[in-house]
Amino acid sequence: MSTLPTPSADALEHSQTLSNLIREKITKNQGAISFADFMELALYAPGLGYYSAGSQKLGASGDFITAPEISPLFARCIAHQCHPILTALDHGSILELGAGTGKFARDLLQELSHLNCLPENYFILEVSAELRERQKIFLKKECIDFFERIVWLDKLPHKKINGIIFANEVMDAMPIHFFQIIKNKIIERGVDFENDHFVWKIIPEDKTKIHDQLTTLQNELHLQEGYISEINTLLPSWIKSLENALNKGVILLFDYGFGRAEYYHPDRNMGTLMCHYQHHRHSDPFLFLGLQDITAHVDFTTVAESAVNANLQIGGYTTQAAFLLNCGILKLAEQQTLSDVEHYKQNQAIKLLTLPSQMGELIKVIALKKNIDMPLKGFAEHDRRRDL
Ligand SMILES: C[S@@+](CC[C@H](N)C(=O)[O-])C[C@H]1O[C@@H](n2cnc3c(N)ncnc32)[C@H](O)[C@@H]1O
Repeated sequence: MSTLPTPSADALEHSQTLSNLIREKITKNQGAISFADFMELALYAPGLGYYSAGSQKLGASGDFITAPEISPLFARCIAHQCHPILTALDHGSILELGAGTGKFARDLLQELSHLNCLPENYFILEVSAELRERQKIFLKKECIDFFERIVWLDKLPHKKINGIIFANEVMDAMPIHFFQIIKNKIIERGVDFENDHFVWKIIPEDKTKIHDQLTTLQNELHLQEGYISEINTLLPSWIKSLENALNKGVILLFDYGFGRAEYYHPDRNMGTLMCHYQHHRHSDPFLFLGLQDITAHVDFTTVAESAVNANLQIGGYTTQAAFLLNCGILKLAEQQTLSDVEHYKQNQAIKLLTLPSQMGELIKVIALKKNIDMPLKGFAEHDRRRDL
């Protein structure tokens, strides 16, 4: 932690303003707030939260890197999964949730154009006003031929879409609750403010709003004394809302995570919370408020259960590496005419996207189908549904 870069004076002032806001919430609550409420403010407080304010966030000059930022091959592979779906639906639309810098949208639309299979509309639902503006500027410049098809939404569409709903690293940016097993009981850990610092504080049993979810989890897992982890209680209603927005098609979700048995493995006894600041990773969410990203991995068993409860079909579950290889990443890479330097860079990018120790196995992808019956090429080999 001592090696973290020091933010500028302006950035620290910004961080202090957000810190004051969260302090006020704690005072108003007359005690600790849930970590989910803390994380919601730290990431999304209007004008102040990490995703709502103006920092660079994604890419080499930001805090972390995502697959669409590493190489256009990521989006191009996904285009080769969208192509047969859009064809089967006689050309539907695509809805991207949390579109980051807009690079994924550009690369996907370019590849679909080469495949002569552009969607009727490319909808983007972005909760960060700042990122939405950045996406508009970027896509207006980079996607001249398709720009009129791109529509930004404030909420999920009322009119159900036929097509594909896509999200990369959106679930891991959702606020999560923290818990700990203390004296054989599962207890929520919230956030308080004491002696000028944010501190972890137990939320009394009669005050926690997630008592039922925590009890169900512990009855299933029997986690040992001291075990600390987190739970995303928003996933079921979020998946239901996606199902509700879709008439026919496929929901494709990529994220860091595992099935429940691996997520809550006895050895993973400190949870998966991670913070990113200028490409440094650490586990202190109280540091540099509003200047650093806060994420937690995804329990894909909850995603699958929520999908089944919402009457969606699980179309496949696998690793990012298997999905990209099934969609022909190596063939797409070979088709490019590149200089030696570009070739080297492309190979490095493919390694990052597919190596098991990198994003290849840490990131999983799940497909949820509604009113569509077709095999999905991304899951043709190495389907891992047994892990859910
Ligand atoms: C880690 S970034 C990933 C950005 C992009 N998908 C990428 O891969 O580069 C998380 C994104 O999800 C957005 N986000 C978080 N919660 C969301 C939600 N409920 N609906 C839509 N977008 C959301 C954030 O504003 C941000 O753009």
